Amino acid sequence: MCGIVGYIGPRDATPIVLNGLKRLEYRGYDSAGLAVLQNSHIEVRRDAGKLARLSALVNEAPVHGHVGIGHTRWATHGAPSARNAHPHLGMTGNVVVVHNGIVENFLELRAELSAEGVVFKSDTDTEVIVHLVERYLATDTALPEAVRRALLLLKGAHGVVVLSSKEPDKIVAARIGNAGGVVVGFGEGEMFVASDMPAILEHTRQMVFLESRQMAVITSQGLEVQTLEGKAVQYEIHSVAWDPVAAEKGEYRHFMQKEIHEQVRSLTDTIAGRVDFEEGRIRLPELNLTPELAQRIRKIVITACGTASHAGMVGKVLIERIARLPVEVDIASEFRYRDPIVDHDTVVLAISQSGETADTLAAMEEARRKGAILWANVNVIGSQAMRVADGYISMQTGPEIGVASTKAYTAPLVDLYMLAVLLADLRGVLDEQTRRRLVNDLRLVPDLAGRCLDREAEVEKVARALVNTRHCLYLGRGINMPTAYEGALKLKEISYIHAEGYPAGEMKHGPIALIDKDMPVVVIALRDPWYEKMFSQIEQAKARGGTVVALATDGDSLIATKADHVVWLPETPWMLSPAIAVIPLQMLAYHIAALRGLDVDQPRNLAKSVTVE
Ligand code: F6R
Repeated sequence: MCGIVGYIGPRDATPIVLNGLKRLEYRGYDSAGLAVLQNSHIEVRRDAGKLARLSALVNEAPVHGHVGIGHTRWATHGAPSARNAHPHLGMTGNVVVVHNGIVENFLELRAELSAEGVVFKSDTDTEVIVHLVERYLATDTALPEAVRRALLLLKGAHGVVVLSSKEPDKIVAARIGNAGGVVVGFGEGEMFVASDMPAILEHTRQMVFLESRQMAVITSQGLEVQTLEGKAVQYEIHSVAWDPVAAEKGEYRHFMQKEIHEQVRSLTDTIAGRVDFEEGRIRLPELNLTPELAQRIRKIVITACGTASHAGMVGKVLIERIARLPVEVDIASEFRYRDPIVDHDTVVLAISQSGETADTLAAMEEARRKGAILWANVNVIGSQAMRVADGYISMQTGPEIGVASTKAYTAPLVDLYMLAVLLADLRGVLDEQTRRRLVNDLRLVPDLAGRCLDREAEVEKVARALVNTRHCLYLGRGINMPTAYEGALKLKEISYIHAEGYPAGEMKHGPIALIDKDMPVVVIALRDPWYEKMFSQIEQAKARGGTVVALATDGDSLIATKADHVVWLPETPWMLSPAIAVIPLQMLAYHIAALRGLDVDQPRNLAKSVTVE
C-alpha cells in the first residue's frame, strides 16, 4: 500500500524520509522514491524495488537538504519502474508531487494537458497533478493556491504532498476523501507529514489529522489548514500515545473501525497494477491463467468459510453473469466430506484471508487429490493456501488485526469481479464495449467506498436506535443476498445480538412469522435489478409492525417515506455494489458493539485464524 513521508526543518531530510518510509514498509510496495530540496534545486531518487534499492541510489549519488518528501508505491497506473515511481517532477523541474489514490478522470485531464503542450514522462495518473499545479503556477499564483486549484479538478480520493523549489519554506499537503490519511506532526522548529502515524512517531507525538477536503501549508514553524474551498480551518492538535499498538490504531478507537476506514486504500491497492484502464483489460499474472486454460475450464467451485464464503457467493453471481461459467459455492467444512464432483477441468478456488484456515486447506487438499486446478485468493503472503495453489490472487489489504473481517471481505469482492472480467475476456464471451465499461467502473470503487465512510455519523445514529435490540433480520436479493448474510454475521459476532441474513424472496416461506415490533429488519434495497422486489419487502415488513432500516440509493424519495431509518449509499454499478453496500453494515455492527461497550477487536470465543477443524 502506498505510503508518504515528508520533513521540513533544520535537520537533513534524507535520513528522516528514508527512516519514515521504512516504518511503512510492512504495508507492502513495489517501488520507492524521495525528493529533497538541495541548494534550491529538487533532487529526485527513485526506482522499482525495495527501500534497500533507494538507499543504494542515495549512497551512490548523495542528496542533502532541509525539506524532503518520500513515497512507497503500489503500482496502479503503469508498471513498477523508475519512471513510474513517485515523486513526479513537473516540466519545469521546480515542482514535485507524491500521491496516494487514483485520479479517476486522469485520461481526460491528461488529454487536456497534452493539448496544452505538456509532455508526460510516466504512465501514472499522479503525473497529471504536478502538471496541473504548474499550469496555475505559470500564472504567478502562489504554491498553496496552485495546489488548491489543481486538486479541485481531481475526481476520486487522494492524499497529496507537494514541494516547490520556488517556495522552499513550505510543504503543501492535502486529503480528499479516504485514500489513506494525511497526518502532520509537530517538532521543535521542525514539522513532519505522513500518510500514517508510525512513519513519524519516533519524532513527535503531537499530531493534526487532516479531514477530507482539507489542505495544510506546512513550514518548519507550524501549519495553516484551509478547506479546498479556501476557508481557514481551526485545527486540533492530538497528543497520541507512545504504545506502538495504540499508535497503529491511529485516530480510531478500535482496529475494526480503522480497518473499515482503510477500505478506500485497500480497494485502491486491490485494483493497483491489475487494471489497464487505457486498454480496458485486467491482469492477474499470479493466477497463471492462459487463454487455453480459460477455454478448458468447465466449472468453478469456490470454497471458503465464514465471511470469505460470503465473498464467494458474490463471486458466483459475477463469474456466471460476466464469464458465463457455472460456479458452485461450497462451505469448506462440507466440501471434503461430500465426495464432490470435480475433475481436471474444474477450478477449485479457495478464498481465505489468513490462508491458514484448516477447513479451507482440507478442502484444497481434497480438490488436489481429485486432480482439480487449484486457485487461491488470500491475504497473507506466503500462507499455506497460497503455497499449495497452482495460481493465486493476493488480496491487497495489508494486515487485518480486528477478528471480524472487514477490509479482507471487500478486497476479494473486487478480485472476483476482476477475475470474472479476465475469464470472460480470455474465453471470448465479452464484447469490447462491455469489457471496457466493466473495467472502467472499477475506477469508481475507492471513492464510492469513501463516500459511505463519510456518512458514519448517520449510521451511528441508527446504531443508537438499535443498540438494545435482541434480534435482527437482514434481507437481500441477487448480488446483495450475500451482503445480508455478511451484515448479519458482523452484527452477531461482535455485538452478540442474534442476527440472521436471509434471501428476501424466502421471507414468505417462513421468517415472516418472526416480524413484529421487536424484530428490526435491515433491507438492502438499492437501485438495482432487484429493487422492486426489495421495495415490496419493506412494505410487507411495515405491514406487520416491523422496524425497517433500509439501505437505499441516494435520491430514492419513495423509500424515505416507508422505512423507519434510511442509510444512504451513492449510486454504484450494481455488479460492484456488494463492496460498497456492506460498508454501512460493517459500521452499523461496529457502532452497536462499541455502544454496548464490548471488546470489538477480540470478540469472545473467536480467533482470527481458525487452524483447527
Ligand atoms: C468473520 C470472520 C470469519 C472468517 C473465517 C475464514 O468476520 O472473520 O468468518 O472469515 O474464519 O477465515 P479466513 O478468511 O482466514 O479463511
